[in-house]
Amino acid sequence: MHVFVTGGTGTIGSAVVAELLTNGHTVLALARSDTSEQALKNAGAEVLRGELADLDVLRAGVAQSDGVISLAFSPRYHSPEGLAAAIAEESAAMAALSEELIGSDRPLVTVSGTPWVAGRASTEEDPLPLEGPVAGRARSVNALLDLASRGVRASAVRMPRTVHNQGKGGFAGLLTDQARRTGISGYPGDGTQRWPAVHALDAAVLFRLALESAPAGTSWHAVADEGDAVRDIAAVIGRRLSLPVEAVPEENFGPFGPIFAMDQPASSTRTRKALGWEPAHPSLVDDLENIQP
Ligand SMILES: NC(=O)c1ccc[n+]([C@@H]2O[C@H](COP(=O)([O-])OP(=O)(O)OC[C@H]3O[C@@H](n4cnc5c(N)ncnc54)[C@H](OP(=O)(O)O)[C@@H]3O)[C@@H](O)[C@H]2O)c1
Repeated sequence: MHVFVTGGTGTIGSAVVAELLTNGHTVLALARSDTSEQALKNAGAEVLRGELADLDVLRAGVAQSDGVISLAFSPRYHSPEGLAAAIAEESAAMAALSEELIGSDRPLVTVSGTPWVAGRASTEEDPLPLEGPVAGRARSVNALLDLASRGVRASAVRMPRTVHNQGKGGFAGLLTDQARRTGISGYPGDGTQRWPAVHALDAAVLFRLALESAPAGTSWHAVADEGDAVRDIAAVIGRRLSLPVEAVPEENFGPFGPIFAMDQPASSTRTRKALGWEPAHPSLVDDLENIQP
């Protein structure tokens, strides 16, 4: 397939571009800067210049492709307003991408997050939560999956809290950044809450499998580690950075504080069985050993 990819320079996207190219697909990738354009060309992709907000460029990308993988998101996590603006931009982009596919039966794979369910690991059958700071992202994913009945082979690959590569990325990456900024490897609550994780190279395989074969309207869990206690994640970060490991107030983590404080393990049993996905790369706790002081 000739695949239009947004976010192809990101932690997940760069792995997805490589995975597609090494498995017989070609890639048309959105690039918003000279640096991103060069990185994508070096990876072997064709480039379409534009921003996520350039809806005509997105439509042109869809028109030139056999399928779409939508990953771009501006990570303005540090204020509620910034997060809301990023979600609105992503929702408009997803609507433009999917409208262009109606009636074509072509695939669109988007990224989502694993839900949380009190007292057990969430599964692929659990609905996305429609409250909290990132509820707008869930609503646009649900709108996309609803287009299954209108000739779009839409699917969602749900990410765990941390998608990592070389010790970087995701919520664990945000903990590392905060530890470097504040001099404390902090965690909210008592640190026993669990976050699931996956290596970006394993997640990339699942995006390809979903593109190639996921039925319309389905959701999948890119979960390799069902849940590590946040205290254990902070402990590795603290050791690697030679910083103290301490509980800190939830508010220190900005709009993500309440999410950081929640126990949210997730399972991928159905995904592994149905799509034949088997993670093969290092676990989060092992990969965090790559953090450099
Ligand atoms: N990593 C995780 O742990 C995790 C967990 C759950 C969900 N996700 C979601 O998965 C997706 C990909 O994550 P990631 O970690 O790979 O993200 P990332 O490393 O932050 O990369 C973001 C990508 O989006 C592009 N982008 C951002 N704003 C853009 C804009 N306005 N116009 C065009 N391109 C834009 C970036 O391009 P530039 O190179 O030009 O900056 C980059 O390619 C995101 O939607 C993220 O929220 C990630």
